[in-house]
Amino acid sequence: MKWRQLFISPVGRKIVMAFTGLFLILFLVVHVTINACIFLNDHGKTFNAVAHFMGTNILIHFLEIGLFVGFILHIIQGWMIWASNSKKRPVKYAVWGASANSHWYSRSMGLLGTLIFIFLVIHLANFWVPNRYHYITQGEELNLFERMKLIFSSPIIVLIYLGGLVSLSYHLMHGFQSAFRTFGMNSKRYIPIVRGIGIAFAIIVPVLFALMPILVYLKVIS
Ligand code: HEM
Repeated sequence: MKWRQLFISPVGRKIVMAFTGLFLILFLVVHVTINACIFLNDHGKTFNAVAHFMGTNILIHFLEIGLFVGFILHIIQGWMIWASNSKKRPVKYAVWGASANSHWYSRSMGLLGTLIFIFLVIHLANFWVPNRYHYITQGEELNLFERMKLIFSSPIIVLIYLGGLVSLSYHLMHGFQSAFRTFGMNSKRYIPIVRGIGIAFAIIVPVLFALMPILVYLKVIS
């Protein structure tokens, strides 16, 4: 397969989606682990120390570029697949009974991805942008734990985060197993294992993330 086909052929697009999707899943594992330091309830001491290491390490900055490229590829390719699927199916699913064969969230990956994208824009504007701006103008990072307390003092923001995380959960519910199947784990033996791990991941990671705004808002973590 030529490079160009990776971005224009249906199979190529699936490979790009699966590859970037798995990369983003890895990012979520790292992100949720670092953030989970706030559960130590030590006034953000451990969390800020780890976040400071991540924010100032040169290797991490290179990975950050890869992360943004991964997000952009995943989002653009996802939208392309969504657009071409809806063109191919002017007659809606219900007519041939797809709803009986697949879950609503498997048929709504484009919509769920778009909701996550909106969440991501808000999230980066809450944390990443002000932190980088502060670093560039003042030469040091923000206290990200204090920033979390400030951002999550708003019930509306907390609700937006919970909405984003519900979307993430359903997106992963299909996306996790779909990515592994694209890479060949499609035999009768592997499907139940991949499905089980996928469902567990799609519940555990968003729930851990969701506990952060909830517990900070309720001042259980302070
Ligand atoms: C509700 C739980 C979450 C909290 C409290 C949280 C908090 C943070 C914080 C403090 C940063 C650091 C900003 C910096 O280093 O400048 C960050 C960065 C980021 N977060 Fe989250 N986050 C959460 C959930 C998520 C989710 C679910 C996603 C993805 C869907 C996500 C994607 C990102 C990205 C892409 C960045 C920028 C990474 C980078 O520094 O390069 N976050 N987040």
